[in-house]
Amino acid sequence: MLSQLWVAVALAVSANALFDKNLAYRSPFIGYEDFSVNTRALEKRHIEHVKRQSLPEIPDTEAAASFDDEHYPTFYGGDFSNSAWVRNDGLNFTHAVASGDPFDDSVLLWTRAVPLESGSNVPDVSIPVCVSFKIFDNPKLSGKPIDSGEAFTSFDVDFTVKVEAEHLKADTHYWYQFADCTNPNTTSPIGATRTISSPDTPANQVNGGKPLTLAVFSCSQFQNGWFNAYGIAAHNTSADIFVHLGDYIYESLGNGAKIGRKVEGRELATVFDYRQRLGQYRTDPGLIDAHLAGPWITVWVCDDHEVADQSWKAGTANSNDTTIGCNFSASGACFTDRKLAGVRAYHEWMPIRQVDVNDKLRIWRNFQIGKLLDLTMLDTRQYDRDITDLYFNTGKSITPSINFAHLHELSSCQSNRSLMGPQQEAWFYSQLSQSKERGAIWRVVGQQIVFTQLDEEGAFDVDAWDGYRANRNRVLDHIHDNQINNVLILSGDSHANWVSDLAHPNDTVNYDPVTGDGSFAVEFAGTAVSSGSAFGNGISPANANKISDVLVAAPLNRDLQWSEASFRGFFTLTLDTEKANATYWAMSNTSFANLDGFPSAQFIVQKDANKLQRPVAGGVVRAGVLKSSVNATNTTSATP
Ligand SMILES: *[C@@H]1O[C@H](CO)[C@@H](O)[C@H](O)[C@H]1NC(C)=O
Ligand SMILES: *[C@@H]1O[C@H](CO)[C@@H](O)[C@H](O)[C@H]1NC(C)=O
Ligand SMILES: *[C@@H]1O[C@H](CO)[C@@H](O)[C@H](O)[C@H]1NC(C)=O
Ligand SMILES: *[C@@H]1O[C@H](CO)[C@@H](O)[C@H](O)[C@H]1NC(C)=O
Ligand SMILES: *[C@@H]1O[C@H](CO)[C@@H](O)[C@H](O)[C@H]1NC(C)=O
Ligand SMILES: *[C@@H]1O[C@H](CO)[C@@H](O)[C@H](O)[C@H]1NC(C)=O
Ligand SMILES: *[C@@H]1O[C@H](CO)[C@@H](O)[C@H](O)[C@H]1NC(C)=O
Ligand SMILES: *[C@@H]1O[C@H](CO)[C@@H](O)[C@H](O)[C@H]1NC(C)=O
Ligand SMILES: *[C@@H]1O[C@H](CO)[C@@H](O)[C@H](O)[C@H]1NC(C)=O
Ligand SMILES: *[C@@H]1O[C@H](CO)[C@@H](O)[C@H](O)[C@H]1NC(C)=O
Ligand SMILES: *[C@@H]1O[C@H](CO)[C@@H](O)[C@H](O)[C@H]1NC(C)=O
Repeated sequence: MLSQLWVAVALAVSANALFDKNLAYRSPFIGYEDFSVNTRALEKRHIEHVKRQSLPEIPDTEAAASFDDEHYPTFYGGDFSNSAWVRNDGLNFTHAVASGDPFDDSVLLWTRAVPLESGSNVPDVSIPVCVSFKIFDNPKLSGKPIDSGEAFTSFDVDFTVKVEAEHLKADTHYWYQFADCTNPNTTSPIGATRTISSPDTPANQVNGGKPLTLAVFSCSQFQNGWFNAYGIAAHNTSADIFVHLGDYIYESLGNGAKIGRKVEGRELATVFDYRQRLGQYRTDPGLIDAHLAGPWITVWVCDDHEVADQSWKAGTANSNDTTIGCNFSASGACFTDRKLAGVRAYHEWMPIRQVDVNDKLRIWRNFQIGKLLDLTMLDTRQYDRDITDLYFNTGKSITPSINFAHLHELSSCQSNRSLMGPQQEAWFYSQLSQSKERGAIWRVVGQQIVFTQLDEEGAFDVDAWDGYRANRNRVLDHIHDNQINNVLILSGDSHANWVSDLAHPNDTVNYDPVTGDGSFAVEFAGTAVSSGSAFGNGISPANANKISDVLVAAPLNRDLQWSEASFRGFFTLTLDTEKANATYWAMSNTSFANLDGFPSAQFIVQKDANKLQRPVAGGVVRAGVLKSSVNATNTTSATP
């Protein structure tokens, strides 16, 4: 019965506004016809539809009679000629809810609302779905909502909904829920979120005076393991903000069936592929819980895998775009198209803001969280990166048997290659300086790849900062020369844990690995949520430690204070006015869904010390190898 599939609603706001309220239609670039969904065209399509349905020969009285909702009091007496028609055949909030990019007065809320009727039962897919949202200052959702509204979604954006909840108070916890406009009893799960402190809030008042905890993740590969790290962060830590440094999804398929994780679809190429993959990843119970638990701040790609392996600004390892044309990858897509598809689906599915409508790929951005910290998120992958290790240019096979980094030197154009592009690089330095000038205590830099020099048995990962040495030195020089204190660099990508003081690489004069003197910043690099270890997928703690023993003792790895590569996991970074506390979490077993894990190491950085507190990790770790212990007492790491 066609007539029961939609209803006309006379809304206080126009249908256009309801399309525009859903930021997913900007995905990712408003104002660029090829790149975003033209909501004016949708509105036109919609009005055409309304006119069709309003013709006398197709009376819609049945639908009108069945519609009874106090929310639309003008319905019965309304003039429907310009009002919106929406579906009322039932909705399924298929992927719970999520929130992200908190400001001091607003936060993005996300859900996905799929009509229950689909396939041949649906006469006209152009009819949008209408969802409402409400955000409250209490978990029971009682009293008057602080903000509320409606938005449309449709197949054009995979039925995703992304709205900005506004008029919020700074540094405050909130709870939110979506509902079907035409049947408010159909509701989404309730999500928890929060705002951040205003930039001028004194450091000791940020987070209501309590330490602020970031949970930091990278590299979640569905087929390689369950996302227990997200679940433990949500259930067993006091994480205030979830930070993802990339590789939230992978483009490949792999063999996950043995752990109940068979990947749907094919190697990603089209926007359909990317949406399907994101949708499948978001069925993981740990990931669902972490999105329900609080706001996320993300950058794509711990690598590159949100788009494709080893990507740089105009190509990937298995597809090239050049000025003379494009070579198609195995999956049949040109790199540019693939990148667009990946970026578009990412913006649809992630609660991430569009930073600059005129800068198409920009996701680098800064969060001023009171005077306690600046959280500066960089894009060291997609934005404007010069050519990386694409295997063919370093003489490797496309699929290295072990991912013991991408270990060959690029002979030419090594010294002055840029990892971020000149615009982002300049922005980054001014951001660090401005943060110091405004009196923020900590400068936390979230970025994708390992920063410190890592001599991996004679080879260097040229896909990390080791491949962009002049660029790294410029960063270090800026921090050093401007005496910028309390810089903490967070990294992902490598599928292993590395904790390092940061001095100039090969500094044998000023830097002392025993005392940490001469260090001027600290790096916390985290392992993968589930992707295979850099030392070999599934490697035992004992075997991983044998490699770590060598690496922490290597003369060129003077900065490296802890190496651990067996356990999958994440880390938390807790900041207060006196110290930073990084707690690394190891997952016991990622081959099934569980919340078993243990803190494997804890590191303190005192304010203005610019180095790890000695003894590093209190002298004791439950996994991996400390530099301080490898030469002295031969500690055998705990195997739980
Ligand atoms: C709603 O979506 C979930 C997740 O895709 C699915 O498991 C469930 O069967 C759907 N419910 C209905 C009634 O279609
Ligand atoms: C919605 O729920 C209320 C309270 O539970 C109930 O009275 C009402 O009949 C329901 N409405 C619909 C359309 O299901
Ligand atoms: C990309 O270009 C390089 C250099 O011309 C070539 O060696 C490589 O095979 C190309 N890759 C693909 C997938 O066409
Ligand atoms: C595409 O690949 C072929 C063979 O692999 C190569 O000859 C050609 O130069 C490539 N074209 C571009 C535009 O990279
Ligand atoms: C890189 O450095 C070389 C040698 O200093 C110089 O000739 C070249 O122009 C530089 N390239 C770029 C892109 O800056
Ligand atoms: C450090 O020393 C190694 C070995 O001599 C060298 O390959 C590397 O370029 C040096 N790194 C820097 C940043 O100077
Ligand atoms: C660091 O944080 C952990 C919890 O993540 C806590 O157990 C530990 O006591 C903290 N250490 C210090 C010195 O505050
Ligand atoms: C992880 O759990 C699976 C399934 O219970 C089990 O077969 C496997 O032995 C466990 N692995 C470890 C390292 O304990
Ligand atoms: C996490 O919390 C759950 C209960 O919510 C508990 O069952 C589990 O053992 C905890 N895990 C850890 C690592 O503390
Ligand atoms: C560890 O021992 C090696 C070899 O004796 C030495 O070169 C290195 O400096 C020592 N490292 C530390 C941190 O003491
Ligand atoms: C530590 O002890 C184990 C077992 O006794 C030995 O195999 C290993 O080589 C030792 N490691 C170092 C760095 O001395």
